[in-house]
Amino acid sequence: MFLTREEEGMLAGREGRATEKAMQILVALGKIYDAKRLVKVSSVQVSGVSYKNLGDAGLEFLDELADDGRARVRTTLNPAGMSLTDWEAQGIDRKFADKQLSVIDAYRRLGVEISCTCTPYLAGNEPRFGQHVAWGESSAVAYANSVIGARTNREGGPSALAASLTGRTPLYGLHLTKNRVPTFAVDVDALLASPEDFSAMGYFTGKLVKDGIPIFRGVRRANLEELKTLSAALASSGGVAMFHIEGLTPEYDLGGEMVESVLFAQNDLEETRASLNDEGTPDFVAVGCPHCSLTEVAELAELLDGRKVRREFWVCCSREVKRQSDNAGYSALIEGSGAKFATDTCMVVAPVEELGFRVVATNSAKACHYLRNAGLRVRFMPLEECVAEATRSP
Ligand code: F3S
Repeated sequence: MFLTREEEGMLAGREGRATEKAMQILVALGKIYDAKRLVKVSSVQVSGVSYKNLGDAGLEFLDELADDGRARVRTTLNPAGMSLTDWEAQGIDRKFADKQLSVIDAYRRLGVEISCTCTPYLAGNEPRFGQHVAWGESSAVAYANSVIGARTNREGGPSALAASLTGRTPLYGLHLTKNRVPTFAVDVDALLASPEDFSAMGYFTGKLVKDGIPIFRGVRRANLEELKTLSAALASSGGVAMFHIEGLTPEYDLGGEMVESVLFAQNDLEETRASLNDEGTPDFVAVGCPHCSLTEVAELAELLDGRKVRREFWVCCSREVKRQSDNAGYSALIEGSGAKFATDTCMVVAPVEELGFRVVATNSAKACHYLRNAGLRVRFMPLEECVAEATRSP
């Protein structure tokens, strides 16, 4: 793989040990994927933040890098395993909290913005069409490639961090136009009336497409919240890093030879929704996977105004959206009902199973997928039903 003189210097350790290590990771990746060279990136989103997933080995790795490593491009952070300020109210134990705060401290020393959100594009890190980035949160990756038209592979924690410390990533995969063409057509003949319907369609499609690139045909409109949850669902039941919607997303007309096509009909939508519902009465309601937009927070404020929640209810969103919600007066209405904001974290990366909950109601197919994997039972329902469930008398 071709390296510039500056990149050779990084690899030879002339810019410190962390940069040397980062360059070794990128060169190894480049060789595996036959990249001809590295490409500069304009931003990085780092995943692998929750101590629940990192453990002590991950914390040590970060600490070592933070000795002399510094982010060279804007770098934002995925959610952590707890709220960084209100973790006690969330029921998180001190041992976990101390470890999680050490992880955050290492990222801070590395020059990473402690944004703790999976929707960086709603919190100031929004790339432009055609820009190369290195993002490491699967839902944000699918959103960036598909909705914004930025270019990123699905980075893991170490490769995203390596891109941050060098400002570069190997030029392969979705950084190249030829790899962004649709490979699988989904003909939609179902009524998509809400974000939850898009979430279910993504869940259905991800299972079939795996890591291919689907193009949805017959979808006439989709708003930000629908595209956000579609991105997340496609990337959870499958490994989809990019999708197109005919007539709507910026690169839908790249051409390409479709290898397969499938129909997504009304009964597929209903069966997928049903498949995400287990037995049991929810003892925990959580919305905001991916993190809520301000529009979703406003809708929640309207639904919860003057009502009281009767079971634990988390509204997961970024600090930035929470700040906007405070200013708009939505937070007071939400918190007045007894619901809690879960900023910096979410119902999946927080150790929810250790908090004693058994059945979780949520409006996200992605959250259902991972919560089930963690041994919890799930109920998939639209946002209004989540509120009705949370406020219902026991
Ligand atoms: Fe975000 Fe957590 Fe869902 S990181 S996409 S809210 S699993």
